[in-house]
Amino acid sequence: MKISVIGTGYVGLVTGACFAHLGHHVVCVDKNSERVEPINQGKATLYEPGLETIIKTCAKKGNLKATTDLKEAVLSSDVTFIAVGTPSNEDGSIDLRYILQASQEIGEVLKDKKTYHIVAVKSTVIPGTTEEVVGKAIEAFSGKKSDAIGLCMNPEFLRQGYAVEDFMHPDRIVIGGRDTRTYEIMLKLYENLDTKKITTTIKNAEMIKYASNTLLATLISFSNEIANICEKTIDTDVNTVLEGVHLDRRLTPIYEGKKIYPGIINYLKAGSGFGGSCLPKDIKALYSYALEKKVDARLLCSVITTNEERPKHFVELIKSKINNLNKAHVALLGLTFKAGTDDLRDSPAIAVLKMLCNWGTTVTVWDPQIDKFHPAIKGLFKDFAKTPEEAIKGKDGVIITTDLTEVGLMDWAQLIPTMKHPIILDGRNILPKTPFPLGAQYYPIGKYTEGTFAKGNNA
Ligand code: UGA
Repeated sequence: MKISVIGTGYVGLVTGACFAHLGHHVVCVDKNSERVEPINQGKATLYEPGLETIIKTCAKKGNLKATTDLKEAVLSSDVTFIAVGTPSNEDGSIDLRYILQASQEIGEVLKDKKTYHIVAVKSTVIPGTTEEVVGKAIEAFSGKKSDAIGLCMNPEFLRQGYAVEDFMHPDRIVIGGRDTRTYEIMLKLYENLDTKKITTTIKNAEMIKYASNTLLATLISFSNEIANICEKTIDTDVNTVLEGVHLDRRLTPIYEGKKIYPGIINYLKAGSGFGGSCLPKDIKALYSYALEKKVDARLLCSVITTNEERPKHFVELIKSKINNLNKAHVALLGLTFKAGTDDLRDSPAIAVLKMLCNWGTTVTVWDPQIDKFHPAIKGLFKDFAKTPEEAIKGKDGVIITTDLTEVGLMDWAQLIPTMKHPIILDGRNILPKTPFPLGAQYYPIGKYTEGTFAKGNNA
């Protein structure tokens, strides 16, 4: 089938490339020519495992192209996906400026289209947006009704760092539409993906996306509250507690009579909070929508505040373990909001870094995905180390802020003796099983230790 995708951000580019990989003909559209050119040369404009290989292969084969010309792209396709950004407003609601602009431009083009066309929203939008904003703009600008244009909401469930894998092996495909013709065409697009496909109303599809991300956020804040209680309870640690919880058959699935143990405890992992461009933004948008609908969504409100307190909570733990932190020189490992991405948006690591610097601590940073000239971190800290060894040597403590695989694989027996004070604070609980040499002090999140929060700092 012929597809156009408006927006070449993370969702748009992965969606376009993966549809091309499935054999469809795809044209990606972006107003910014600097994003378009690399795609035509077979290059990915953002880091996502496996993406560049797909773009390279499909661009060479000729079934993946990019352009700044929205008209040409829409006219040459049967389905247009809207995958533009939905930034947050001050009150947590989403800014629909780019959605509206794209819808109007698509509508204008569809005036001249002779054949049936589907407009599918991929961007995460609050219930009602697809019909009230996108649908109405398209009808107004094209002068056509639903018999000529199909409207659809088809949310994405792509984790950064696993986006290609999640697209090619999805847990479900949700197609929100208003007629069977739309469902049939959209199902055809995904016919080569073997998974449960849900066809439903547009508003259900919009809500499924928000409810999914909000459940994940809620599980994380729940884990962090259990961690806070463990920190005040002798002989407990949150990792063991939540592993025990996770083994419940309703959380750890059983397949053909056998339990499927995940490599990690999914979303029941305590740490310094959830970040990124999705979870924090989506839960705030749903909360704002609930308020607008006069729903007292106090659980959502608590999930948000619990999360906002996490970086401060971790810094209080650091303060209670490193003497005179304001005069100390520490190594901070990881800036991104999680491993496997170069994304710094809403990263708890950056919040921790800023608090340490404001406190007067000297910080040397290491992150394998970020270069020292990144605008988001300009002027924040003293040194940017090329290797973790260089970052750690001679320091008063190590602060782990991202769940980097590299940190888990490091030879701590070799590294600890190079430190001035061998103190490790693990804000992502990635080293609980690491055997540290004698004398090293290891403090994860959610474990009772003598003197932790002795001054009563456990906000
Ligand atoms: C999230 C969802 O997981 C995807 O399903 C969804 O499609 C995507 O948002 C989206 O809306 O586009 P992502 O933003 O890539 O994906 O991040 P996650 O892997 O969910 O992690 C979010 C944050 O939670 C990270 O900061 C991570 O470190 C933290 N986290 C995760 C925890 O603190 N504990 C956990 O147990 C799991």
